[in-house]
Amino acid sequence: MTGENHFSKNKRGFWTQWILTLACTVTCVASPHAAPPNMSSAEIDQKVSSTLKRMTLEEKLGQLQQLCGAWDGDCLPEDFALARQGRLGSTIFIRGAKRTAELQRVAVNESRLHIPVLFAFDVIHGYRTIFPVPLGEAASWDPRGAERSTSIAADEASAAGIRWTFAPMVDIARDPRWGRIVEGAGEDPFLGMAMAAARVRGFQGTNYGLPDKVVACAKHWVAYGAAEGGRDYNTAEVSERTLREIYFPPFKAALDAGVGTFMSAFNDLDGLPGSVNSFTLSKVLRGEWHFDGVVVSDYNAVNELIAHGVAADGKDAAAQALNAGVDMEMFSRLYNENGAELLKEKKVSRKTIDEAVRRVLRLKYQLGLFEHPYADEAHEKATLLNPAHLKAARELAARSFVLLKNERGTLPISKDLKSIAVIGPLADDPQNILGPWCGDGRKEDSVTLLAGIRAKLPGATVNYAKGCDVTGNSTEGFNEAEDAARQSDFVIVAVGETSSMSGEAASRSSLDLPGRQLELIQAIHAIGKPYAVVLMNGRPLSINWLATNSPAILETWFAGTQGGNAIADTLFGDANPGGKLPVTFPRSVGQVPIYYNHKNTGRPPGVDPKSPLPYLDIPWTPLYPFGYGLSYTSFAISNLQLSAAHIRPDGSITASVEVKNTGDRAGDEVVQLYIHRLVASVTRPVQELKGFQRVSLQPGESRRVEFLLGPRELGFYDRAMRFAVEPGKIQIKVGASSEDGLESSFEIIKPR
Ligand code: BGC
Repeated sequence: MTGENHFSKNKRGFWTQWILTLACTVTCVASPHAAPPNMSSAEIDQKVSSTLKRMTLEEKLGQLQQLCGAWDGDCLPEDFALARQGRLGSTIFIRGAKRTAELQRVAVNESRLHIPVLFAFDVIHGYRTIFPVPLGEAASWDPRGAERSTSIAADEASAAGIRWTFAPMVDIARDPRWGRIVEGAGEDPFLGMAMAAARVRGFQGTNYGLPDKVVACAKHWVAYGAAEGGRDYNTAEVSERTLREIYFPPFKAALDAGVGTFMSAFNDLDGLPGSVNSFTLSKVLRGEWHFDGVVVSDYNAVNELIAHGVAADGKDAAAQALNAGVDMEMFSRLYNENGAELLKEKKVSRKTIDEAVRRVLRLKYQLGLFEHPYADEAHEKATLLNPAHLKAARELAARSFVLLKNERGTLPISKDLKSIAVIGPLADDPQNILGPWCGDGRKEDSVTLLAGIRAKLPGATVNYAKGCDVTGNSTEGFNEAEDAARQSDFVIVAVGETSSMSGEAASRSSLDLPGRQLELIQAIHAIGKPYAVVLMNGRPLSINWLATNSPAILETWFAGTQGGNAIADTLFGDANPGGKLPVTFPRSVGQVPIYYNHKNTGRPPGVDPKSPLPYLDIPWTPLYPFGYGLSYTSFAISNLQLSAAHIRPDGSITASVEVKNTGDRAGDEVVQLYIHRLVASVTRPVQELKGFQRVSLQPGESRRVEFLLGPRELGFYDRAMRFAVEPGKIQIKVGASSEDGLESSFEIIKPR
């Protein structure tokens, strides 16, 4: 990875480098082991300035254009024409070492200024080796795991010519109707921050200029997850306080981790769509946070300013987005179509255009694209689906599973059984298990649950029956499924959602199991054989009947290429589930939005028995709370200690507990710390996650787990909207979910 590439920069002069680079573009492929660009930012700036000076306006606008290739990854004829004219800044979808190199050769060899194209793609949870969907990955509460999966994704994507991923999606989502909840880390900003930073670190490494890294993109800036009614693309009404405390923090964490780019969101927020929002783009992102990287619009979002009703036409839309600081336009071509006129009419300044181009060129230099423009087919072949990647996918998938219920030790299943029924529409489905945004993942590479179980139990009879589809009304397959169950010692039923029921433009008004799946489970239940339900889905589901009646429920999200093996590992005890819910599971869609870090209100339900309950017809509590998840072993958390009884506002305090594996198998517990501030200048949530650690323990083993709380964790936005640590009493709770734990408290005291 760090070996010196024979045309790396060192201290050679600019022209020498150009000549060498050009020579190499004809004769060499980029070494996958090349060094990152050996240039200081001053050197890069100087190169950018000198390139900028030589560019025509057309070429400049071309750098601000991102166009699509074909969905299957191929180039379109127009891509070649524009690349030849030096008018193609970036593409999406075009992928594969051969295809990207073909187009890149045209840009580098045939365009006037030889500026390479930047190939982008949505590498969300893996490129070819697919990992669990991000919501599942968040359920692992394992940022190191997320760093590992994204690092592998970067390795594979870059081998296929992709150097820019539109991930991580760090939108907080408190509404499970919204299909894109699957793409993020759930409802909590603290967990969201940890996962955002980890994913950025994994994609970008220490330097995204390394050829096996990609530049990441924090999206969608911002509050897209607050879409009203969970309807995709919808308006978000969010107060500045909630923006700053809930929706901004994962973006800030991505920024602090060095994220190279941001994407402006589709939604309007306080009357302004993401691509013209002067508060979020100019005041916060560029102003307060000093972000000077590329901001790309979401797909067609500049053009959509017209439908939003804030731009009269394409020209107006282009002017507003450029002036708001959106550097690159994805899909629509309004910058290119109108840029010259806008400049002439002084609606956009040359400086604004130059600044946008400067950011794009700087990114290309930082990525080392000028030195290593091409991916290499042999390296790609050796990298995609490499056995180490598949092994990681299997391990990380198992870490994402959440055991929701396990009555009388139904799971794990004994490997000695003679026969097992594997039932359900998702049991042998190689496509859906990959999830909704699965890069270049292919169903022919994926291991279904049925295949995983067959591999796990080569000597047993495996009776498979689909039973029904995920959607639709047919129960024709029920008889066959019931027969399979009757003939077997144990039954596994795999149900849930299709992958297309979550993701973009995939909101649902119901959180129930779709189609006839619940009836299928009820039919199996009636037979009386021991059984477990395996859920595959991209959002919380209101599975009340299952929660009451089924003996065991394992939430596996969409687990990816190795999903079937990982589920089989878990069902048979080779892996012990240790995941916890990163999002609340409601009892009913009518409770939505429901999230653990809500406010108390003036009549807190459940505290004063005389207070009215929020609903007349259902309990107000969730079906499964945030942070919840079981294990095959048991843990005891004890001996909560605080390092001080009081601290100053600028001080910090350590909370620690002992966690012990009190059962008889190795397992993981996620120890979680929550705080609650009793009195403050503004209302505060009933609890806020401020620390967590996933700990692996052997039977009988115990460990002390420590959490440090300082101003970052204890501060909030006060009445004057300043981030401050106010004096007052802080309650602490440390436990295994948001609904239990040991409690203590300390005071923050103003120094005299
Ligand atoms: C999505 C983005 C995505 C882009 C490119 C848009 O529709 O909102 O998340 O990165 O398409 O595929």
